[in-house]
Amino acid sequence: MQPTMLPIARKVINYMKRIAVLTSGGDCSGMNATLRAVVRAGLASGLDVIGIQKGFQGLIDRLYEPMTTRSVSNILQRGGTFLQSARCKEMRTESGLRLASENLKGMGVEGLIVIGGDGSLQGGYAIHQQGVPVIGIPGSIDNDISFTDVSLGVDTALNNIVRAVDNLKDTASSHDRAFVVEVMGRNCGYLTVVATIASGAEYSLIPEEPYDLDDICNDLRKRYQEGRTNSIIMVAEGAGKAEDIANQIKDRIGFETRIIVLGHYQRGGSPTVYDRLLGARFGQAAVENLINGNGGMMVGLQGSKIVLTELKTVIAAGIRPINPMFPRLANQLLA
Ligand code: F6P
Repeated sequence: MQPTMLPIARKVINYMKRIAVLTSGGDCSGMNATLRAVVRAGLASGLDVIGIQKGFQGLIDRLYEPMTTRSVSNILQRGGTFLQSARCKEMRTESGLRLASENLKGMGVEGLIVIGGDGSLQGGYAIHQQGVPVIGIPGSIDNDISFTDVSLGVDTALNNIVRAVDNLKDTASSHDRAFVVEVMGRNCGYLTVVATIASGAEYSLIPEEPYDLDDICNDLRKRYQEGRTNSIIMVAEGAGKAEDIANQIKDRIGFETRIIVLGHYQRGGSPTVYDRLLGARFGQAAVENLINGNGGMMVGLQGSKIVLTELKTVIAAGIRPINPMFPRLANQLLA
């Protein structure tokens, strides 16, 4: 009788025992949802999960705590990051990087998940090169990270901005005033231009496109002559200061103008459902890929799929360019 060939059971054997997670750089809403997913997916896979406090600074200063499923209870709906975050200059030095990597190895950590923006992903890649596998998760309200359609925190920030502009429109229309609204984004006008479209603001000034204030003033005057007596001018922080622009409008055409700098208000608040889901998917995918030996990668969203891109490719690509469709659309919708 012929022996029956039984199919070999395919089971990924998880040799990894301990991973760590940190949030770094500017915080954003959805980081807590992501931490919750990392911790719970890690524990469910039989891993120890260590939470590093205050980003890379905490790695250097050995600020960490073991995570239990209860450590991440009741944080899903909160903005910010319960592990806290920091911008860490020391990580850019050779001694800082070495200390951070040695501390990780000393804790018995075999894989690290870094949640943050471009600088944080660079820090993560540097640690990866020191021999600790790292998976990056893009988190930055600026939406300036390449190889992901969207980063954590962007949707919540946009909702914050649009809510603010809705409120401003009420008071602007009650007083025949123009408002200049300054939005975050040092190098990237994504938040400004998308919020312009979504709020029905009149103008958006972004670092990616030159603008002419004379043209804007002439247009404002024309609009007022036609009976439209209030306007919202959105400006990304990298394209100008709200105060300067308001002063120039007043000097050129004498319009009563008020300003608001939305600042860090944009970054906080309860995450939207979109950011909670994105955080859950990114967090789970990061753990799964660490276990599967895919260190040195960033998880991102392309279309509806979670995809992996090498961290070195993400870093080399630099700031994600704005899709020109957005500024075009914002201009077309200006009535
Ligand atoms: O990178 C995110 C961001 O919110 C930028 O839009 C902004 O310019 C910057 O962080 C502000 O940084 P900080 O919180 O350190 O003042």
